[in-house]
Amino acid sequence: MSLPPIDRPGLIATRRDLHAHPELGFQETRTSGLVAERLTALGYAVRTGVGKTGVVAVRTSAPNSGTRCVMLRADMDALPIEEANDVPYRSGHAGRMHACGHDGHVAIGLEVARRLAQASLAGAVKFAFQPAEEISNGAAAMIQDGVLEDPKVDAAFGIHLWNDLPVGTIGVMPGPVMASVDEFEITILGRGGHAAAPHQTVDPVLVAAHVVTALQSLVSRRRHPLEEGVVSVTRVSAGQAFNVIPGRADLHGTVRTFGGNFWKEAPGLVEQTASGVAGAFGATAEVRYRRLSTPLVNDGRMTALLREAAVEVVGKDKVASGVRTMGGEDMSYFLQKVPGCFAFIGSAPKSGASPHHSATFDIDEEALVVGAELLSRTVLRFLG
Ligand code: NI
Repeated sequence: MSLPPIDRPGLIATRRDLHAHPELGFQETRTSGLVAERLTALGYAVRTGVGKTGVVAVRTSAPNSGTRCVMLRADMDALPIEEANDVPYRSGHAGRMHACGHDGHVAIGLEVARRLAQASLAGAVKFAFQPAEEISNGAAAMIQDGVLEDPKVDAAFGIHLWNDLPVGTIGVMPGPVMASVDEFEITILGRGGHAAAPHQTVDPVLVAAHVVTALQSLVSRRRHPLEEGVVSVTRVSAGQAFNVIPGRADLHGTVRTFGGNFWKEAPGLVEQTASGVAGAFGATAEVRYRRLSTPLVNDGRMTALLREAAVEVVGKDKVASGVRTMGGEDMSYFLQKVPGCFAFIGSAPKSGASPHHSATFDIDEEALVVGAELLSRTVLRFLG
């Protein structure tokens, strides 16, 4: 089946319009308004307010042509970053920026919807424009509001524009490709006093230093060497003055895994390490541990299907395997419920790439064409 050609200028114009109007998680009202208007005009059945600011659009198949439903997901939110790029489509909002490429994800989703609007498909296609990926709860909110039902979704696909890959390449592989994200906070309680009389105190600063060091032994000594894992302590705070030993110290950090035993054991290990070390010094530790998102795991069959489409779009030698990251992504919530695949679309400009979440992040817009072509063909293959 042939689809209408990609509207390259339209695709780029949409991305630039969204880039100039970034909105943070669960505040994507302009973005979701634009999405809903376009999809309604294309003839889709549109539901707004799914997971607060999310939008869902469905095109059911012609009678008797099939009952399967494939869902494409695009995240819509921006980041609290002041844009440092000097481009015509620079963010028009102080302190907000599309620094992760989600503007491109929305533009790609809309272009795929436009191309598929008139296609005769053997089944239904559903689009999930998701809020709040960066704060890790937009996907869960949409699932709670029924995005995977009516019609019931059989498979889900999504992409991320990816500046670690050159434009013109696609990264895809089965199994876990993005990590679980856990957050921990540790409060160490000692006893404050004079810096010149440490024997009269229980110094929580020294305890905190030992806890930070001991936490680094979890990856090196408590995890199976062939299981991936990261423990990072990212914030240490205590004290106010050079001559006062404070009464408490606080640590904040994250654990990342691809699942497995280390994922299961990490909350207990962090608690045991912090409490045990603190106890050895006569202090106590309170640990608060939260699971933010699960590992993102690609289904084998769905990955093979998307990979075939990728080879058609960029050629076999431009499809990279082994692209994985310890970053998190709440597409994992959809892929826990239904089989699917999440792929990385190379977007690094030839002149050099800025990292995701940096104030100078930008993409080579040719990546939009690659992404739209890939997802269009993936839908056709799934419903073919
Ligand atoms: Ni992102």
